[in-house]
Amino acid sequence: MQDPKRYTITAALPYTNGPVHIGHLAGVYVPADIYARYLRLNDKEVAFVCGSDEHGVPITLKAKAEGTTPQAVVDKYHEIIKKSFQEFGITFDNYSRTSAKIHHETASEFFKDLYKHGKFIEETSAQLYDEKAEQFLADRFVVGTCPKCGFEESYGDQCENCGTSHNAKDLINPKSVITGNVPSLKETKHWYLPLNEYEKWLDEWILQGHKKDWKANVLGQVKSWIDDGLKPRAVTRDLDWGIPVPVEGGEGKVLYVWFDAPIGYISSTKEWAEKTGKDWEPFWKDKETKLLHFIGKDNIVFHCIIFPSMLKAQGSYILPENVPANEFLNLEGNKISTSKNWAVWLHEYLQDFPEKQDVLRYVLTANAPETKDNDFTWKDFQARNNNELVAIFGNFVNRVVVLTNKYYSGLVPAAGALSEVDQQTLDTMHSYPEIISKSIERFRFREALSELMNLARLGNKYLADEEPWKKIKTDPERVKTIMYVALQIASALSVLSEPFLPFTSKKLKEILNLDERLDLRWKSVGPNTILIASDHKINKASLLFSKIEDAEIQKQIDKLEASKTSAEEVKLEPQKETISFEDFTKLDIRIGTILEAEKVPKTKKLLKLKVDVGIDTRTIVSGIAESFDPSEIIGQKVTVLVNLAPRKLRGVESQGMILMSDTQDGKLSFIEPDGDTVTNGEKVS
Ligand code: MF3
Ligand code: ZN
Repeated sequence: MQDPKRYTITAALPYTNGPVHIGHLAGVYVPADIYARYLRLNDKEVAFVCGSDEHGVPITLKAKAEGTTPQAVVDKYHEIIKKSFQEFGITFDNYSRTSAKIHHETASEFFKDLYKHGKFIEETSAQLYDEKAEQFLADRFVVGTCPKCGFEESYGDQCENCGTSHNAKDLINPKSVITGNVPSLKETKHWYLPLNEYEKWLDEWILQGHKKDWKANVLGQVKSWIDDGLKPRAVTRDLDWGIPVPVEGGEGKVLYVWFDAPIGYISSTKEWAEKTGKDWEPFWKDKETKLLHFIGKDNIVFHCIIFPSMLKAQGSYILPENVPANEFLNLEGNKISTSKNWAVWLHEYLQDFPEKQDVLRYVLTANAPETKDNDFTWKDFQARNNNELVAIFGNFVNRVVVLTNKYYSGLVPAAGALSEVDQQTLDTMHSYPEIISKSIERFRFREALSELMNLARLGNKYLADEEPWKKIKTDPERVKTIMYVALQIASALSVLSEPFLPFTSKKLKEILNLDERLDLRWKSVGPNTILIASDHKINKASLLFSKIEDAEIQKQIDKLEASKTSAEEVKLEPQKETISFEDFTKLDIRIGTILEAEKVPKTKKLLKLKVDVGIDTRTIVSGIAESFDPSEIIGQKVTVLVNLAPRKLRGVESQGMILMSDTQDGKLSFIEPDGDTVTNGEKVS
């Protein structure tokens, strides 16, 4: 699409089961905000929408854990999240919530519409059920082994290890998150969206149609799902928290959270239109609108397969032009985790570093996980602030402002004849709007930001080469020209930094007394506008950035260390339910020896083992590949549960289970019999 009439920009609705952390910001909200601000600065019509994702199992689980109601949980976090986004300068045009009436209505209507037009399959089938909790188990209520990669903690709807989305019944060895019980099966009716019917169309639209302009990580995931074959997906659930299924037979059931949440983008747009007297429909239905979804990689399947299929089924909506999904940001070498409290929380950052929003925006953009997972460290945060923001950007601006005040009492001098270097410097400056645009429009925000810094470097180099502080004594006329040129660069920075460093941009415009110049747009930095004219009066210098000392960084590191220790303390799982002696005697555990070991192809965790268990030699598939190399465990004595029902893992039948213990560093270790006298097949009791 060349020149769209308007843009609809969505940022993934955050779950309200906890506050927002730097991983969310780096992956979704900062890039989306840069993009939206950039478009507005180019006078484009934009609806940038978001809101709280308040349904779904994570919220119910959080309420259970905190001994409160789901409503209380979402009310609490909605406020925290909304306020912190605002203080951080994320300029949503509207921030809604999925518990809002307008959203319930919009999602219900959407469902009814698809239902009426026969777009669903209605089917009664056996589903996982927790007898003790008296509840069906879907999504995050159930964990088990991922049928695709063998990861043992996969959720019912999605595996966090390989990203696959599946149905809860596909899990191997499912276990209830509520009681720890092995679920039974119980019949229930649900509505399914037959994704298989959209497979061919998705293939053509994305894999053929967008193979050049979508990110490789996104295309890669889409291709892998399509290659695996899409299956009908249940869009309803047996739960009491959510949007009631609005059709006959739907009593006691709610819409699947991933059915309702993306519709939240539409309801948020409606809410915004109502508040501002606009029409929401062109933002979702006019072909000349460019729709973009900013998300993290765990959301790709929902935004590239499921939601587009819903929109396609409905028929009157536009589809996303692009889904610029990011990879993950880690923290000090470990995966960010809400439940383990391993995170830098936005609301806490804002308390600890008030007025330093732009430092975090800068670091998260400079280090954005655009093509691979990246790591955030506090040392890097400090270094980027001190060596880049302070030493390059801040230093340049400060010199220009201080010297202008000193030499000319703050009045922009008139330029004399321009030297070749002056002209070249100004020409280079004029080329920056286009250079940075190109990167932003390809969703390469790190590259865009580093170009912005190059403009500041250009200014620094110009001053260092021209040395106005020396020439002021020998050639004061020449200095007027130098300072005039330098002031143009400082002004250009105040304009072009706005999408990335909005607080700095505002402050710099105030210092340069340009804050009333509403005519200064992105393109004004091009050759045809005078950014700051002779005789214009600027204000006194004040620092844009300040050095961050070691002590402040150490405080943050200590805070993280403390949360690590407390996470370790609670790491031991509580004792499971008691079982009878009869139950115990059913287990047949024997000593064995590993004879052969090899990796199961295309899996991270699985090893295929040949184990001599005395009574026979059998194949066992074990999820230990991350802890052991196949060659090092040949001859290893092991303890084996031999009468576990055989099950297939990645096409290989496993006939038993090796007993392992978890160590503190996350690696597994064997439970070995003491001494060499034990022989294979001896019983453990
Ligand atoms: N709440 C989801 C998450 O945090 C994102 C929902 S995006 C939407 O992963 F499309 F469903 F809104
Ligand atoms: Zn998996």
